[in-house]
Amino acid sequence: MARHLITSALPYINGIKHLGNMVGSMLPADVYSRYLRQRGHDVLYICATDEHGTPAELAAKEQGIPVAEFCAQAHDAQKAVYDGFALAFDHFGRSSSPQNVEITQHFARRLGENGFIEERAIRQVYSPTDGRFLPDRYVEGTCPHCGYDKARGDQCENCTRVLDPTDLIDPRSAISGSTDLEVRETKHLFLLQSKLQHEVEEWVTAHEGRWPHLASSIARKWLTEGLHDRAITRDLDWGVPVPADTWPELAAEGKVFYVWFDAPIEYIGATKEWSDEQPETRDWKSWWYEADAGDNPVHYTEFMAKDNVPFHTVMFPATQLGVREPWKKVDVVKAFNWLTYYGGKFSTSQKRGVFTDQALSILPADYWRYFLIANAPESDDSSFTWEHFTATVNKDLADTLGNFVNRVLSFSKKRFGDEVPAGSAAGEAEAKLGEQIAELLAEYENQLEALQFRKAAAALRALWSAGNSYLEEKAPWLEIKTDQDGAALTLRTAMNLIHLYAVVSEPFIPATSATMRAAFALRGDTKTWVTADEAKSLSAVPAGTAFTVPPVLFAKLTDEDLETYKERFGGASE
Ligand code: MF3
Ligand code: ZN
Repeated sequence: MARHLITSALPYINGIKHLGNMVGSMLPADVYSRYLRQRGHDVLYICATDEHGTPAELAAKEQGIPVAEFCAQAHDAQKAVYDGFALAFDHFGRSSSPQNVEITQHFARRLGENGFIEERAIRQVYSPTDGRFLPDRYVEGTCPHCGYDKARGDQCENCTRVLDPTDLIDPRSAISGSTDLEVRETKHLFLLQSKLQHEVEEWVTAHEGRWPHLASSIARKWLTEGLHDRAITRDLDWGVPVPADTWPELAAEGKVFYVWFDAPIEYIGATKEWSDEQPETRDWKSWWYEADAGDNPVHYTEFMAKDNVPFHTVMFPATQLGVREPWKKVDVVKAFNWLTYYGGKFSTSQKRGVFTDQALSILPADYWRYFLIANAPESDDSSFTWEHFTATVNKDLADTLGNFVNRVLSFSKKRFGDEVPAGSAAGEAEAKLGEQIAELLAEYENQLEALQFRKAAAALRALWSAGNSYLEEKAPWLEIKTDQDGAALTLRTAMNLIHLYAVVSEPFIPATSATMRAAFALRGDTKTWVTADEAKSLSAVPAGTAFTVPPVLFAKLTDEDLETYKERFGGASE
């Protein structure tokens, strides 16, 4: 069985994330991790809060608490929401951990020794009005490439190009709005990415064949623009300090690394956090250091939204290459487009859209997990609307799956009692059903393995539908009037489908899957997946197995619910 390292882009520490954030990184990574674990692979799913940088500093200032305290609280608040979504991280770390400080400093020292970091005096934007140097994100202006007028000094949100604050047209302070900006001289560390351009290009060429088009096209666009040397330190109080043994002068000035330098390194740092919790049994280096991987190589998949792609396909690989040590680099980059809210942006300030904590306060996680993955913005942006959400919940979850489960179990209980009835031997209809289920299951597996989440959801839905068609065709409620044994067979087969659904739906809807599985008193039910032969024979739950009827799995959402949601969160045309 293979070893799979899986990471999702680290959510910024400040603020609870909205659904768009969830669907573009953590949720699909969780579905994929769960699937691979169920198939028996050795999986390590790592995530963490991305804690450094100016937004954390400012949010703490606003609340009047020290930034370390702010981050500790905000980390716990985010973790609680992710637990609510049943995200099964092996570890959810913090980029401010001592482990990340240690590894980030190590990377910087090596890059320095190898000639890829250089001290340079630069002229930096200083705002007399604000009394400080302005870090990239705090200079706003017009993007020189696309003309977007709210581009930030580090990156243009609109065209995703990476920027330098001095590239901006009509720059202003994002803190005070002041356009009275000066440029003052100060020393910083630069990562000489231009020296690594050729190597990164070779590396991308060798790997992009396995990335979805979205990821490789963004990487290519970035490489075509050329890798520029970039300042990787900042004048901030909060961050990974520049190591004093290597750059004493900058360290004395209190410079810290730029957040985008230490954040991806936290994938490694968080793995060490995980390993340090149980050093006897966990070996972080065997996951990350290729020389320590032994003869069981690691397959590494990253999940992220499209704005993160340049950092993961070009900048972080450049860092890793420049370190000249065999650190594990990504094999597959799964990138997502945007989830919009009624075609527009989710907006915190305008209170439009749905935040992850609010979502859970309305309905349990499985409703969201299913809907979001089934509508993941894979080939294009996709739009969240309450109309679409309620219709999908009602049709797929409440009718196709939930109703099937309750109908079959209640009817069987009423007519045959508390145990799975035996009835006749399987006939032609069951053989045909088994073939169909095996085929759909193979399709579902293939799509999950190909990281095609919408298509995987469609295959899962088709599996659920096949049960409904079978039930309609056999109509046990009529059959029972003339053929008791025939009706019993139909119900036993349908109950086997329920068990199969419980097993294979788990990556999408883990809580509901557990409920479905627990309906059957199957001893030693440790099955984690279903083989093609098992799918064909539909006999894992034998006659005589005791069962109970679970409460309704998914509530049907009413027109009234729909109106309430739209009113609370803002609907179309605002
Ligand atoms: N915090 C960043 C964002 O939300 C993602 C960081 S990913 C990392 O856009 F790899 F750099 F950590
Ligand atoms: Zn732009």
